[in-house]
Amino acid sequence: MTETLSQPVVIKAQHPEISPTESFANDVLSGMQASPKRLSSVYFYDEKGSQLFEEICDLDEYYLTRKETEILQRSSGEIIENLPRNTHLVELGSGSSTKTRILLEAALSRFDETQYSPIDISSEMLASSAKDLKQRYPELKIEAIAGRYEFGLEQILQNNDSSNCIMWLGSSIGNLTRKEAADFLGNIRLKINGDDCLLLGMDLRKDAEILEPAYDDKMGITAAFNLNLLDRINAELGGQFKLDDFRHKAIYNVEEGRIEMYLVSEKDHEVHIDHFDKTIPFKKNENILTEYSYKYSQSEIISLAELSGFYLDKQWLDDSGWFSLNCFKPIDLTPA
Ligand code: AVI
Repeated sequence: MTETLSQPVVIKAQHPEISPTESFANDVLSGMQASPKRLSSVYFYDEKGSQLFEEICDLDEYYLTRKETEILQRSSGEIIENLPRNTHLVELGSGSSTKTRILLEAALSRFDETQYSPIDISSEMLASSAKDLKQRYPELKIEAIAGRYEFGLEQILQNNDSSNCIMWLGSSIGNLTRKEAADFLGNIRLKINGDDCLLLGMDLRKDAEILEPAYDDKMGITAAFNLNLLDRINAELGGQFKLDDFRHKAIYNVEEGRIEMYLVSEKDHEVHIDHFDKTIPFKKNENILTEYSYKYSQSEIISLAELSGFYLDKQWLDDSGWFSLNCFKPIDLTPA
């Protein structure tokens, strides 16, 4: 793409072999039959869950968004100057692209041309945020990809001769286990070139007194976000969950360095799910694990980089040292 398009381009993934409802159904059934029971946090983000997540990001207790924004406001010029000229900015899970605007503005003022490719599963969200960005910054080239991250990255990285910075902000990497995170980044390493890099927002290890309220706020928004998973099963799979029969729980596991979120059954009871014609038994105080949110120490960040074929090139912290933005550059894999 050489000319500035008046409309952003939105490319959609081909139809997946398995429909989103079927993969949701399969995961719910296996999670309800597992011991201990679990539901994947990827299913939080239906329309209501995405709305609740936006509300979480504005909560006093949920410091992550505020701290990352503070870093971006202070250091976006330096972050952009650390990249080769006209680096193509690629963003995983861009959502509404609000925080990214700070980086885009820094790129627009330093590069001759700025190309931005958000990748997100929600094509509606992508189309509306890409349109909004194009109105604000007419000179920005946008090629948005609706689909899974792996699909989007393949589309962007093949036939691409610019350098790329793959941004994954908001500490979303924390929702993968440490092993999944290393595997995910390791796969990206295999697809990128020597002058490409990653920009990762990672939440840092800190006291439980700060972490637990961030995931169990006074207004009960995170509780509603967690319980919405049951509502989603009711709406999409004919579940008969009564939300009052479960409560939200968030604890910080210091050894593992992760927040663990659960839905806890208030009593011995059974729930029928029509889609499978199955009844699921729950014991009083039985947990359903719904999310891990991993926190990183400095040495865990460095070893994640090394395990996945990168090194930590630069890091930016907020004033309180609670959150980090990390630039990972690839270790040269070619034999000497
Ligand atoms: C999206 N992700 C980084 C959030 C987190 O902090 O792990 C999801 C979240 N869960 C509860 N509150 C926010």
